[in-house]
Amino acid sequence: LCAATFAHAQPAWPAKPITWIVPFAAGGPTDAMARDIADKVGRQVGQSIVIENAAGAGGTIGAAKAAKSAPDGYTFLVGHMGYMGAAPSLYKKLAYDPVKDFDAVFRFPDTPLVLLVPKSSPYKTAAELIAAAKANPRKINFGNAGVGSTSHLIAALFESRAGIEVTSISYKGAAPAMNDLVGGQVEAMFDQSNTALPQVTGGRLNAIALTSLQPMPQQYPNVAPLADKTLPGFEAATWYGLYAPKGAPKDVVQKLHQAYLKALADKTWTARMAAQGIHMLPEAQYAPDAFAKHTAAEVEKWRKVATDAKIQID
Ligand code: MLT
Repeated sequence: LCAATFAHAQPAWPAKPITWIVPFAAGGPTDAMARDIADKVGRQVGQSIVIENAAGAGGTIGAAKAAKSAPDGYTFLVGHMGYMGAAPSLYKKLAYDPVKDFDAVFRFPDTPLVLLVPKSSPYKTAAELIAAAKANPRKINFGNAGVGSTSHLIAALFESRAGIEVTSISYKGAAPAMNDLVGGQVEAMFDQSNTALPQVTGGRLNAIALTSLQPMPQQYPNVAPLADKTLPGFEAATWYGLYAPKGAPKDVVQKLHQAYLKALADKTWTARMAAQGIHMLPEAQYAPDAFAKHTAAEVEKWRKVATDAKIQID
């Protein structure tokens, strides 16, 4: 009886603001996607969702912090392909296990990437950049959001496929890397198509290739996929999603997933995401179980990809 009374005394979730840890600098793609989704999901659950930027080491610092947080339904991690998929294959010592230390809550839509260069760059196509890199090994600088970030991983896959070597310059997120790209301190970078778009339409950067198999005529007219002639079959997109520290209340996970699905029913919102080049997924793939399976499969996939492409922490 005592326990039952006690259980009833618990305030209904969510009784206070919820925190989502974003392990990169504010203003980058992970942050932008997280803030947009947090706003919509927060409205559905009737609580504010606060974004906490805990940047560094390709997202692994923030992920480690989230793994150690109390699984009380108030702290979550916005995770992505890098630190929740590839990191176990890249880092000799990782302070968390993406599968064992987290419960998957829901998956976000995916985003393809674009290869960007400064406005004044001599490279007008990926083929030109590859030719220059072949002639001058390790001379071209690529900015990225940290070791094991997607901008780093995709650049490494690109190097491996193109048979080139570039010099990698790591930042605490795509936003600071992008600032240096605009300023010409770095010569190229892969970034998510959605956050790169305003830089390209605003005339600050040139997009010279896409990582999607299909062209993106609405967002990036006249920009060819890498797979089109330059690197046949090359395809990459970043996956993201929300995770709870292991052992979070199951009903909270379900409530958040349901709130997300309700938010996605707003077609104006999903059309706006699609217009930015964000790739909406079939609804079943957003579910906690499907996302947990996806995470485990990606950790396995990256073991092979990282070995084949010789992606290592320097
Ligand atoms: C990445 O390259 O992994 C992300 O774009 C990092 C970020 O969101 O800043």
